[in-house]
Amino acid sequence: MLGATGRPIKPYSLSLVQKVVRLRGMESALDYHTARALLEWQIELGATDAIGNAPIDRYALPDTAPKVKKPAAVQTAPEKPKQVDPVVVAKAAANGAGSLDQLRAAMDAFQHCELKRGARQLVFADGTPGAQVMIIGEAPGREEDREGKPFVGRAGQLLDRMLAAIDLDRTQNVYITNVLPWRPPQNRDPKPEEIGMMKPFLERHVALAKPEVLVIMGNISCQAVLGKRGITRLRGKWEQALDLPVIPMFHPAYLLRQPQMKRQAWADLLELKARLEGT
Ligand code: URA
Repeated sequence: MLGATGRPIKPYSLSLVQKVVRLRGMESALDYHTARALLEWQIELGATDAIGNAPIDRYALPDTAPKVKKPAAVQTAPEKPKQVDPVVVAKAAANGAGSLDQLRAAMDAFQHCELKRGARQLVFADGTPGAQVMIIGEAPGREEDREGKPFVGRAGQLLDRMLAAIDLDRTQNVYITNVLPWRPPQNRDPKPEEIGMMKPFLERHVALAKPEVLVIMGNISCQAVLGKRGITRLRGKWEQALDLPVIPMFHPAYLLRQPQMKRQAWADLLELKARLEGT
């Protein structure tokens, strides 16, 4: 809508008139002429409608603009995954296994050992379950990783010859496993935490295989079973662990590198034979 001057019509207010009067120091006592002059001035500006009778001092009004509420801080930090103790998980899995097959499956399903990711497959055991003698090696090497059986490479062939020398044979009276069922990358030494988390499986393995004696080969096996190292000092002497008589021996891989040590290894084999024959 346009006013008489052709400009758009705007509302006017008495309050504005009175504010102008106040600003000019005239206070509220308007005489007729002043009020009229101010009204005309507003109309000239384009105001056409009165919007209130009482003056409103908008400068004195409290700030009533609605305050925009900030949204409550949103929790953006990702929830921390619950920390699991691999040893606790391993114990539960191992103790839940009622047979060697179940234990193999439980180990295969265990996801907390880094070694699993670098290995081709789980190397569980070979030989005769329930045999008098259970041999515990260190960890699979390249050939074992390929074939899925412990002690099948050069060290394994030497082990078979050593056993044959005292009438033992994995196809008849020996059961063989390792402390770790997965090959460490570049055949590096297993870390203490890897040994620790796989120990519950080893303990269960021994309990399910029910041998009469344990032969532990090399320092890693001594660490896992006896909790100590020093194979040169420990070899050939019977100890008690996992409720069984245990004899530490040089690892066949060590004997391949140090053939002069085979004499001591032979003495240890004779000690084992004597024990098995009850003499
Ligand atoms: N060395 C081991 O300790 N275990 C194997 O299975 C092979 C080599």
